[in-house]
Amino acid sequence: MKKIIMFGICGKMGKSISGELIKEEEIELIGGFDIINTGADIGELLTGKKTGYRIHGSYEDIKKLNPDIIIDFTTADSAKKNINWAIENNINIIVGTTGLRKEDLSEIESRALQSVSKTLIVPNFSIGAAVMVRICGMISKYFDDCEIIEMHHDKKKDAPSGTSLYTAEEISHGGNFSGFRLKDGETETIKGSRGGFTGGIHIHSVRLPGLLAHQQVIFGTKGQTLSIKHDSIDRSSFYPGVILAIRNLDRLSGFTFGLDKLIDI
Ligand SMILES: NC(=O)c1ccc[n+]([C@@H]2O[C@H](COP(=O)([O-])OP(=O)(O)OC[C@H]3O[C@@H](n4cnc5c(N)ncnc54)[C@H](O)[C@@H]3O)[C@@H](O)[C@H]2O)c1
Repeated sequence: MKKIIMFGICGKMGKSISGELIKEEEIELIGGFDIINTGADIGELLTGKKTGYRIHGSYEDIKKLNPDIIIDFTTADSAKKNINWAIENNINIIVGTTGLRKEDLSEIESRALQSVSKTLIVPNFSIGAAVMVRICGMISKYFDDCEIIEMHHDKKKDAPSGTSLYTAEEISHGGNFSGFRLKDGETETIKGSRGGFTGGIHIHSVRLPGLLAHQQVIFGTKGQTLSIKHDSIDRSSFYPGVILAIRNLDRLSGFTFGLDKLIDI
């Protein structure tokens, strides 16, 4: 039986994933962590029925509960603190929170590699998105250029999305794209029209009510384009990836980034 605590349990993702975890037989959700509703029974939040397990607001309380795994769906600033605390206290942590900066990730990686606990960071838990990242990395060498359009709900705080940055990184390992955001003679009538730019790849971020999480990767070469598109239309799309991560955490090394590392293609 794996004892799990959900950080950010009162948020959209924390609540949705916890609502599924609570039904699993091999998992015991022994509490939550949040800045709101502290002291409340997690069951009242998730199902309306009391469980005897509570939402906590302090690290000391979490330590006393001795969880096997923490899952984090909070904010980037909070996640950074939570990860460092989990590593210092030798507690395994699976992080779904996005918006962590590259510098933060490298710092976390070096700390995690010296720890006995496991740190798994997954900017997108949907299996379809993980497959998309893997395929994009495999085919980029066949194309001259690539642009990414990512579209999310209007409450998303960070842009571009963690998934688009990760996809761009994987693509740029295999491709040999331009080092310049604007090509010779290219201009922008409105600044930013050509989007963000990383590793030779333009990223365009759309934020609208009605959307959840969507990404289209468009590769181009002479006379043809290839588009790969993934849509998460419901938060339930993230749950199979979370369970996959929980079940496979023990076989990973100290630090792992991306669900694609758990997918066999
Ligand atoms: N990895 C994925 O597949 C995936 C999917 C969707 C969203 N996300 C990411 O998950 C994160 C959460 O998304 P959401 O839509 O649930 O957001 P949300 O705003 O609905 O929930 C965040 C929760 O964290 C809590 N929180 C904030 N600061 C905290 C702190 N210092 N300590 C403890 N709790 C704190 C809030 O009170 C809230 O309950 C975001 O970074 C989002 O981009 C990841």
